[in-house]
Amino acid sequence: MSESDPSTVVTPQDLPRHIAIIMDGNGRWARRQGKPRVFGHRQGVKTLRHIVEACVSRHIANLTVYAFSSENWQRPAQEVNFLMDLFVSSLQQQIDDLHRNNIRVAFIGDHSAFPVKLNRLIDDASTLTAANDGLRVNVAANYGGRWDITHALRQLAARVKTGELQADAISETMVSEHLCLAGLPEPDLFIRTGGEQRISNYLLWQLAYTELYFTDCLWPDFDEQQLQLAIEWYRGRERRFGKISEQVNRADGT
Ligand code: IPE
Ligand code: IPE
Ligand code: MG
Repeated sequence: MSESDPSTVVTPQDLPRHIAIIMDGNGRWARRQGKPRVFGHRQGVKTLRHIVEACVSRHIANLTVYAFSSENWQRPAQEVNFLMDLFVSSLQQQIDDLHRNNIRVAFIGDHSAFPVKLNRLIDDASTLTAANDGLRVNVAANYGGRWDITHALRQLAARVKTGELQADAISETMVSEHLCLAGLPEPDLFIRTGGEQRISNYLLWQLAYTELYFTDCLWPDFDEQQLQLAIEWYRGRERRFGKISEQVNRADGT
């Protein structure tokens, strides 16, 4: 059995404990209406707010959303600047309401390249909501799965260098404990909107045994009903984690 075997805690008929979403399709949604791409990003923020509420009402514990990838810097400067401003204004507008709703907001990714103002808001929002024990929303911003793993390995390598840790003592659990989402259950359900069937450098390590759901629905059109369809699809999956069906269906899992 692998050290990080999630099958020990997962009951497939239950709700996902952690949903990870790639919110894709904003630009195409806007272009289809003859509007600039950024119009779709603005609408995308509204969709996210609705989906957060839908997760709260379904008692989902963790939601991780991909807001900006480490590759998204390569977009035209105008779009990148718009997105930075949109992060700032959305946080300013929504953080008090999220806090009142007992939602904990956390950010994952390398924030060193963000404008100072955005970094301050990220810190303030994380601190303000740190003790909330309702839905936890992780916003992946300037996040890349490869960066996350590299960052974790760097921390372990530093401990090897000081002699505190032996290289051959490095375990999968130790790597997991140094990733951005350390301590949280790995995503049970992954949703990508917008029709593409790829991971785009999202949670590479954590998605190892996640159920992957792809929909053509563009993110601004995604709603509570669409989320419900994804959850129902998830609940119909048989999660075998390397075992065979008969084992999974036996109550004791042997
Ligand atoms: C996702 O929508 C939002 C971000 C990457 C910030 P896109 O902007 O990628 O929209 P499409 O895929 O071009 O339609
Ligand atoms: C992934 O979407 C990143 C986010 C949604 C933030 P992209 O639109 O950037 O992905 P690719 O480039 O089409 O794979
Ligand atoms: Mg896209």
